[in-house]
Amino acid sequence: MSRTVYVNGEFLPEEDAKISVFDRGFLFADGVYEVTSVLGGKLVDFDGHCARLNRSLGELDMPAPVDDAELLRIHRELVKQNGVEEGLVYLQVTRGPADRDFAYPAEPVPSLVLFTQVMNLSESPKAAAGIKVISIEDLRWGRRDIKTVQLLYPAMGKMAAKAEGADDAWMVEDGFVTEGTSNNAYIVTQDGRIVTRDLSNAILHGITRAAVLRFAREAQMVVEERPFTLEEAKEAAEAFVTSATTFVTPVVEIDGVEIGDGTPGRVSRRLREIYMDECSRVAV
Ligand code: PDD
Repeated sequence: MSRTVYVNGEFLPEEDAKISVFDRGFLFADGVYEVTSVLGGKLVDFDGHCARLNRSLGELDMPAPVDDAELLRIHRELVKQNGVEEGLVYLQVTRGPADRDFAYPAEPVPSLVLFTQVMNLSESPKAAAGIKVISIEDLRWGRRDIKTVQLLYPAMGKMAAKAEGADDAWMVEDGFVTEGTSNNAYIVTQDGRIVTRDLSNAILHGITRAAVLRFAREAQMVVEERPFTLEEAKEAAEAFVTSATTFVTPVVEIDGVEIGDGTPGRVSRRLREIYMDECSRVAV
């Protein structure tokens, strides 16, 4: 069934939506994106995604095509037109079409594209069973705090994981885990502390991460924001990932080594519950 998508001011059937072959998103991956989940037909943490989008745009001197209020209106209209109860809204802003030149155009006309994807996020079988990850070297560029559309290395990582019968890859730099290919990475130590890498240019500043850490602290759990090694992860009581599409999803195996007893841990399951309750409550 054809979806209605949004392209530069218009809501169109997906087969009629067009972007120029000269678009810098296509030629240079000169674009940024956001993925906002939809639960019960409502947007989860929309303000957080909007704030990060504006930060990404600012870091790249890219003009915002519309303001935040208009973005919310477009998100809601797409969810409504496509009848999405559960799934995601994908948004991409690029520097727009221009003759091919590495230097940015003096007067860019940014492109704005949004579409929806229906997905079962709340009852995901992966969340129930937990996922297996492999480790790979983190060979991405040095500004991972900017949510750009240059996702080829993460895509290669997912394929490497798939080839080994795993679900995802955790990336490692100088011996320390940075993050998953499309999620933030956490461990729970044997004495119950939640450890996740501190914010820097080395990782994406996850919107789900911020919410989960806030809820964990409110529930009197101990949180440590610091790098951890792969060895520490393999000896942890639990491991999990967070993102807009996985919420909190337990990791039950790293490089073939079972984490804990090889089933989703208590802390991960509890955090998923709290997160799902809280984010459904405040969705807009
Ligand atoms: N990915 N780290 C990376 C590299 C990511 O790509 C993502 C999100 C996250 C988690 O961020 P958030 O909690 O704001 O979703 C961390 C999205 C879901 C994607 O690319 O589909």
